[in-house]
Amino acid sequence: MPGEPSSRSDASAGALNGRRGKAAAAALSVVLLLVVLFGPPRLYSYSESPDFCGLCHPEIFAAWRQMGSHRRKACVDCHLPNDGWAEHYLWKGIDGSKDTALYASGLVPERVRLGSHGRKVARVNCVRCHADMVSRMDRGRQCWDCHRRVTHLGSVAPVTR
Ligand code: HEC
Ligand code: HEC
Ligand code: HEC
Ligand code: HEC
Repeated sequence: MPGEPSSRSDASAGALNGRRGKAAAAALSVVLLLVVLFGPPRLYSYSESPDFCGLCHPEIFAAWRQMGSHRRKACVDCHLPNDGWAEHYLWKGIDGSKDTALYASGLVPERVRLGSHGRKVARVNCVRCHADMVSRMDRGRQCWDCHRRVTHLGSVAPVTR
């Protein structure tokens, strides 16, 4: 009967979407993460590359390629802490498993935004690379309040010069 196999696969699809599915997705992402971190070095460097991030963030990847001078910087230069390898690895692990688990379980928020930690990390990175410029600057505001081009949406919007 055609009805029977389909009801069975409905049941397993239901299980995948349920709590067990989420736990499985989380477990899978931890395993993937360990493979990425401690597996072949080429895999680790791929996981640091914009090509990799672009698999799940295609619009931002496209926008990043028009980011002027930052086109040569990797996503992780702004979105992971870069003041020491321990912090870099730690947050790569946390952000990486969170992203992957949500992605695998289909719980992708409609509108992705930087959280407060993400904003702090990005800002520390702006200052790290632009220290001399920043010493002459208004520090009360977020760098990208003024430098809209640095945000991904800002970089696709037409720039009038
Ligand atoms: C497997 C798919 C996947 C990959 C690969 C991926 N992401 Fe994400 N990312 C997501 C999802 C889903 C979200 C939204 C959920 C969330 O906030 O974690 C997200 C959110 C984000 C956010 C905003 C939320 C925050 O925590 O501040 C940033 C920044 C980000 N990703 C950067 C990256 C970078 C950089 C890479 C490459 C090193 C990357 N992503 C690779 C799926 C992915
Ligand atoms: C020069 C630093 C810089 C680089 C390089 C960079 N980003 Fe961002 N990113 C930002 C800033 C700043 C924001 C916050 C924008 C805002 O809040 O308006 C942001 C926001 C995000 C968000 C949240 C969604 C959004 O549009 O606000 C994601 C996801 C993200 N970036 C992913 C990436 C990926 C993937 C790459 C590489 C292809 C990348 N970023 C490269 C600085 C950068
Ligand atoms: C990994 C180093 C690095 C990081 C991180 C970085 N930048 Fe840059 N940025 C550069 C380089 C290199 C240039 C081009 C040479 C220059 O002007 O110093 C540049 C250029 C710029 C420019 C002028 C040219 C343009 O494209 O508009 C601004 C403004 C700027 N960055 C702001 C920011 C802000 C804001 C952040 C944080 C969200 C940031 N940068 C993060 C390296 C970096
Ligand atoms: C109140 C607005 C404002 C804020 C906030 C601000 N900037 Fe600027 N920034 C400017 C202006 C105006 C210029 C000079 C005009 C230009 O080159 O874009 C400038 C110039 C720069 C340049 C040199 C641009 C070039 O073309 O070479 C860099 C790099 C830069 N800012 C980085 C930063 C970083 C990093 C932060 C955060 C710590 C920041 N700015 C915060 C307004 C601001």
